[in-house]
Amino acid sequence: MAVRRQHSPYPGADAWVPEHASLRVLRAAVSSCHGCPLYRYATRAVFGEGLARARVVMIGEVPGDAEDRAGHVFVGPAGRLLDEVLEAAGIERDEVYLTNAVKHFKFTLRGKRRIHDKPTRYEQRACKPWLNAELERIAPEVVVALGATAAQALFGPHFKVTESRGKAFATEYARYTFATVHPSSVLRAPDAEARASARRALIADLARVAEHLRASAPRSRPSRSSRSAGTKSARDDQHGLA
Ligand code: URA
Ligand code: SF4
Repeated sequence: MAVRRQHSPYPGADAWVPEHASLRVLRAAVSSCHGCPLYRYATRAVFGEGLARARVVMIGEVPGDAEDRAGHVFVGPAGRLLDEVLEAAGIERDEVYLTNAVKHFKFTLRGKRRIHDKPTRYEQRACKPWLNAELERIAPEVVVALGATAAQALFGPHFKVTESRGKAFATEYARYTFATVHPSSVLRAPDAEARASARRALIADLARVAEHLRASAPRSRPSRSSRSAGTKSARDDQHGLA
């Protein structure tokens, strides 16, 4: 696939994102997005899933082959691992709204196999308005970036998951904004021992998320008008709380 880094004829998703829309309306609208080249190759856009009143939003990178076929987030191998680590950490998948930083599957063909490919910075930026709209709509107490792509979408390009994983930061997106590794990094670990330790570390990060969920008061949602979205950059506003 040709990667256009500069002077792209694609404008980014802004023009396709309806303002002040419900999740249902957003989900319907994403299927016609032409904000970057990825829509041309994927089967469909895969939007986030979960309740609009979810207290926690978790963000992956991009749908994989299984998600592109099924039209649902995290249903493939990474999703199965995510289910297991959420359960081990004491978080119910049903209380989580799950989405991705980029909504269309990106791949390269190897024979007939479609191999996951990382979205470029440009594609990540192009797709961000959809994520912003989901987060604005849900206004969660807790946001968790799963992996570097999602973490950099929230905290900026210099954020390092390895240095800051498992810590809560206040951002424009949520009072407690966490980053940890992507579940597929556990699957990619080189041997059984490395896999087991990567899995334990991911569960430990998610257990800190669970603690914040248990400790924070039952949610009282601020009114839409009193919550102006995107006023400050996450980086300006970032400070450790844990
Ligand atoms: N990996 C992701 O980042 N998201 C999915 O939905 C599936 C795999
Ligand atoms: Fe639009 Fe995002 Fe799909 Fe690109 S990846 S076409 S910006 S929905």
